[in-house]
Amino acid sequence: MEVPRHYSLFLKKRQIQDRLGEMNREISENYDPSETIIVGILGGALFFMADLVRNLDPGFPLDFLALSSYLWEEKSSGTVHINKDLSTDCREKTVLILDDILDTGQTLKFARRHVLGRGARAVESAVLLAKEEHRGNRILARHVGFYVPDTFYIGYGLDLKGRYRGLKDIYRKATDHG
Ligand code: IMP
Ligand code: MG
Repeated sequence: MEVPRHYSLFLKKRQIQDRLGEMNREISENYDPSETIIVGILGGALFFMADLVRNLDPGFPLDFLALSSYLWEEKSSGTVHINKDLSTDCREKTVLILDDILDTGQTLKFARRHVLGRGARAVESAVLLAKEEHRGNRILARHVGFYVPDTFYIGYGLDLKGRYRGLKDIYRKATDHG
């Protein structure tokens, strides 16, 4: 598949899968399927969630929240929209939110607040990537796959204007191209 100009290979499928194995153990040790709902933020969490839950206890209930802030750009629009709300009752449950990448933190902050508003007892988050620039936001994600330099990424669920999610590896944009 063609990747856009100025993007180069950053993380190979194999490296992602190896790290997911470790995250899997971390999550299995820390969460109980009878007390925890796993909520994936669509569409970025698509492959991360699929590969992670496939090796977890199948008793974990799964749900989805479709949010968008980067409408059609490489920069956040500053407002988070709910495109699809939760379908399950999360009252008195721990909710483990999964997202592809943590950037400014506004998406996870929004999701956290939303889930707590629905009566969740506790909220934790796991992200595949976290941009290093926003160190203050580390507290937002208890589980992080990789800390990465502050540029734009595509592939393995990460999109640019809705495209490139299906790339098996992750590509990064050269920092000298804005
Ligand atoms: P935040 O709200 O600024 O933390 O940005 C997180 C959200 O923006 C994620 O859910 C992603 O969907 C999207 N996002 C942030 N950075 C990137 C990127 O480098 N590539 C693709 N999507 C991104
Ligand atoms: Mg996204």
